[in-house]
Amino acid sequence: MIKFSSLDWSKTLSVVQGSQGEVRTIGADFYENKDGRFDEIIKLWIDAGYTTNKVEWINFYPGKHFDKNIENLFAQEVSLNPIRSWISCVRPGKSAPWHQDIDDDLEIYQSKGDLKKYTCNINHPSHGQVFMIDKQCYYMEPRTKIIEWPDYMSWHGASNCGFENHYLYHFLGYR
Ligand SMILES: [Fe+2]
Repeated sequence: MIKFSSLDWSKTLSVVQGSQGEVRTIGADFYENKDGRFDEIIKLWIDAGYTTNKVEWINFYPGKHFDKNIENLFAQEVSLNPIRSWISCVRPGKSAPWHQDIDDDLEIYQSKGDLKKYTCNINHPSHGQVFMIDKQCYYMEPRTKIIEWPDYMSWHGASNCGFENHYLYHFLGYR
């Protein structure tokens, strides 16, 4: 069953568009990699020839860059308890190469219960913006459509060969 979010994403989007966000790229400053658990993936990227010029996405967090309540409201829409969520932005010419979302607090999340992950398309469909999870490619998806991940640890990636920023909302929760 296809689900849509009824939240006011245009408002959240305009808030985020007016804020700085946190840039992620391939460098040593990679977000939350204190014990080197992301090193294997970074090696895959470097071996494939990716550079900081190509690898980039910008993250925005509830309570920091946009209304914290969005997370709680979205959690209700998908009937889960929230763990974490964020908005990602891939700019034209940039990619988030194939990876798993491995962060330093993974064991804490896993201890909470049955983890589920969702992604919501929050901007209008725009040419050249692709998002892939496992064997599925999401392209020109309607705004507010909610994608359920096959597994919260699924491999995924995103690339933007279009002309506009590509914004997605990602949510991790548990039952
Ligand atoms: Fe990711």
